[in-house]
Amino acid sequence: MKTMIIIAHPDLESSRANRILMQPYKDKEDVVIRDLYKEYPDWNIDVQREHALLDEHERVVLQFPFYWYSSPPLLKKWFDDVFTYGWAFGSGGHHLRDKEFMLATTVAGSEHEYRAGGGNLYTMSELLRPIQRTITRCGGTFLPFYAIHDVDKAGVSDEVLQQEAVRYAEIVAAPAIPLAH
Ligand SMILES: Cc1cc2nc3c(=O)[nH]c(=O)nc-3n(C[C@H](O)[C@H](O)[C@H](O)COP(=O)(O)O)c2cc1C
Repeated sequence: MKTMIIIAHPDLESSRANRILMQPYKDKEDVVIRDLYKEYPDWNIDVQREHALLDEHERVVLQFPFYWYSSPPLLKKWFDDVFTYGWAFGSGGHHLRDKEFMLATTVAGSEHEYRAGGGNLYTMSELLRPIQRTITRCGGTFLPFYAIHDVDKAGVSDEVLQQEAVRYAEIVAAPAIPLAH
């Protein structure tokens, strides 16, 4: 299965969590890793190129730091620009049908805060729903998402993040059915 990981971090070089999660991919050539903010510093997304890359890959992982209960804005623009009528949905728009999408996000808040009645009131599943619906509206398969919590300073250590990175790489490579069960 051809997999592409698109990272949407405004400053990946200064990142801790997202950068450590990428460490297992240093020697892997079977997964395409992209840094969206680096590729499009002017935010001028090459839609034809994105369409071609999406056509080439069966699984697309969208990795980002959780910002204001959502993704950083360039990833939203990526959806707006790339998921076009006649290509992603609508008449003739079948290119994303059955393509697998996985969200992977790093979160400062603790997991227990993201529940009904918790400090952040809503679950991650609820907060990620607009992206889920965007994908399913276009016929894509929304795989269970990956989230790691407590990623800021007083939270998980580099060592824990390195262990998580191994687990994350296994999840990214796992077939869809066991992931969903
Ligand atoms: C603009 C901004 C908004 C953020 N919003 C949230 C948020 O809504 N919930 C949360 O738990 N953490 C939030 N955070 C914390 C980030 O999720 C966290 O710093 C990031 O995942 C760490 O990843 P990195 O080390 O790769 O940068 C926010 C951080 C920034 C800079």
